[in-house]
Amino acid sequence: MSQTFNRLLDAAISYLEALRAEGVHYVIVAPDTLAALTQPVQVAAPPQPELPARSHQGAEPEERIGLQRESTGPVEMALPIGLPGQPTGESLLNKPALPPQAKAAAFAELRQRVLVCTKCPHLAASRKNVVFGVGNINAELMFVGEAPGVEEDEQGEPFVGRAGELLTKIIQTMGLRREDVYICNVLKCRPDTPGQPTGNRKPTTEEMRTCLPYLIEQIELIRPKVIVALGATAMEGLFGKPVQITKIRGQWHEYRGIPVMPTYHPAYLLRNQAVTEKRKVWEDMLAVMEKLGLPISDKQRNYFRSG
Ligand code: URA
Repeated sequence: MSQTFNRLLDAAISYLEALRAEGVHYVIVAPDTLAALTQPVQVAAPPQPELPARSHQGAEPEERIGLQRESTGPVEMALPIGLPGQPTGESLLNKPALPPQAKAAAFAELRQRVLVCTKCPHLAASRKNVVFGVGNINAELMFVGEAPGVEEDEQGEPFVGRAGELLTKIIQTMGLRREDVYICNVLKCRPDTPGQPTGNRKPTTEEMRTCLPYLIEQIELIRPKVIVALGATAMEGLFGKPVQITKIRGQWHEYRGIPVMPTYHPAYLLRNQAVTEKRKVWEDMLAVMEKLGLPISDKQRNYFRSG
């Protein structure tokens, strides 16, 4: 391989490692670059020193490696550094916590960035508001949902519709207020439904992957002790693969150093009013309360218990 190619490869690896050490987990890669990276490397023949200088035939391999710091076109992909899937697995608690003022400033800066995001042009065009998140940035407990619905899009606040009312009741039954916890979604924009005046759809894998770095930054700044993932899509968005929520709810998972409790989405409880399903969610919340060391009264412990 040419020395130039090796030097460039080393430089690219060092650059990515330095970014990762700084806590950057994604790089923006243009589709052309991505396509080129999947091709076998064609190494130019080493120059023949004894021959008079001639122009190179064909493209230099280094011309096909181009990491970009910033977005240069409308269609780009955010790729995790490290493993091909997401997440990278590195703990989000590795970096020291910021002092309160710096944390508030970093959170405000993140919010500003997210509010003007146009990474998904179709969602930026259809949304009324970006739904960044709401609550206490020092919360020990963070609820992560799927994506804003129509009411959330109108108001710019997560979980304010019917499912949100139920989530608020759940939080209150835990002895907390909405202001005590942090509430957000994997996707910060309402998934568009072109041609339909109303309606919902699940965020696409690409939309979730594009938005995930914002959620990761929120988690990294808030440093919750527990995350409650509301529904299968929230789990899929976080962990990068589809799950069967009926199989995994109630079982502790870990997202990059932070315990995660998957449970049913409140919208599911609105559709399925069976007490058995409500009880399951409540048992999951009791497990969360125990993990957080919150006091649990007999009344709380015995909700939905029959007999
Ligand atoms: N459902 C969600 O997943 N998130 C919201 O904000 C509202 C409804």
